[in-house]
Amino acid sequence: MQLLEELITIDHQADTPIYLQITNAFIHNIRLGRLRKGLKLPGSREVADLLRINRMTMVAAYDELQAQGWIEMAPRRGTFIKKDLPILSPKRIDAVQHAFTIPGKPLFPLDERKIIPVSASEFPEAGKIIFNDGFPDSRLAPVEELIRSMRSFAKLSVHKKYLMYGGAQGTGLLRETLAEFLSDTRGLPITPGNILITRGAQMGIYLAASIVLDPGDPIIVGEPGYSGANLTFIQLGARIHSVPVDEDGINIDAVEKLCRSKKIRMVYVIPHHHNPTTVTLTPERRIRLLELSVKYKFAIIEDDYDYDFHYSSKPMMPMASLDRHGTVIYIGTLTKTLAPAIRIGFMVAPESFIRQATSLRKALDTQGDSLIENAIAGLYKDGVITRHIKKSVRLYKERRDHLCRLLQEELGRHVSFRTPEGGMSVWTQFPHTDMVKLSRAAYGKGLIIRDGTEYDTPTRKYNSVRLGFASLNFKEQEQAVDIIKRLV
Ligand SMILES: Cc1ncc(COP(=O)(O)O)c(C=O)c1O
Repeated sequence: MQLLEELITIDHQADTPIYLQITNAFIHNIRLGRLRKGLKLPGSREVADLLRINRMTMVAAYDELQAQGWIEMAPRRGTFIKKDLPILSPKRIDAVQHAFTIPGKPLFPLDERKIIPVSASEFPEAGKIIFNDGFPDSRLAPVEELIRSMRSFAKLSVHKKYLMYGGAQGTGLLRETLAEFLSDTRGLPITPGNILITRGAQMGIYLAASIVLDPGDPIIVGEPGYSGANLTFIQLGARIHSVPVDEDGINIDAVEKLCRSKKIRMVYVIPHHHNPTTVTLTPERRIRLLELSVKYKFAIIEDDYDYDFHYSSKPMMPMASLDRHGTVIYIGTLTKTLAPAIRIGFMVAPESFIRQATSLRKALDTQGDSLIENAIAGLYKDGVITRHIKKSVRLYKERRDHLCRLLQEELGRHVSFRTPEGGMSVWTQFPHTDMVKLSRAAYGKGLIIRDGTEYDTPTRKYNSVRLGFASLNFKEQEQAVDIIKRLV
């Protein structure tokens, strides 16, 4: 069978053993159909002569192919390529193949109100400028340092254990490092036992709300508010009560009023830079909210997703740093500090709450990626994260100022906004513009900008969007504003 000589090439210098090279070449050619199903193959001696290799090597190759299910060796009849190939023909469950497509709806009941559209892929479109919701510039992310940190962990044999199953709470090394960092920089009086590592802030919000809320339980959120958190509360079947947000943050009188009439179980706040309006909850309101949480025994989710990015003065310490009674569940994340796809976040809470959250996290997602967690701990210890924050804050402050100047000078009559003290976006109202039309037309000109309808309620239309400045350099901002200017 001369054909085999053409189909199989052997590299005597390669690291792969020769019998495996032959095995792989057979599989490759079977897959391509060059060696058809049912074909009778020559004996091992004949192939060995053809390929000029030791016969025992060919015996080993046939043994391997048989073990993997590609050939069968029938006594006295010879060696054949199998008709039922391993990967190409999985076993049917039933004997008869019925033609059907998967139904659009399952037969069992489904709560249609919970089918809230989420995009399948939100990766930035190449060639378009994007005014995103306020995300970091991923071009600056310290990816090389992270990979180096992972490599140095992976190399040490003592760290191979981190490739096995570990704890659902997150690696001890990252929790110890974070406990120190958060106590030094945010005044949180905590130990590693108070920390659960999550996949970003969103998982923290979901775990915290799942533990506290039963279906039908009332929760208070600010309006306009963060749709990602509302999505969680809707999925959990909670009853959402909205209170207004003004320039001092959420209205605490409205919170108190609701507490008097309902058994409020949870209040969700983003005190540092409220999403979407970027306002900071004042110290007076923070203290009042904490007092109310003690009086009415509700839990506070303090979502501090962009703590690192404050430009005007010193950032305000989290409410959790004042929580003597254990009512605050503090949520943080590195997805804004480093990059959204580096899915490391954390929850800080009383130890028993963290234990329950850990158990729920395990039920949802066995554990995090320990190697990445330890690599991140390495970045904290080496000062990479602190340096990265400093560098980003300096740059984002310039970008914020540049965008605000552009908005003022180029779009002054068409927009109204306040320069945000922190965060990564400018909450911008377009009082005279149809934002849906603008968004569509801008797309055609190479700019992606949201239409702001996600913030609207049945009684209020905001006509506002968040213009993310952090991920656009000056030139990109100028191009984006120029497109808007030509359209409004
Ligand atoms: C207020 C707020 N909380 C939480 C998140 C989710 O963050 P993560 O990507 O870390 O899950 C976001 C994302 O933009 C956010 O704006």
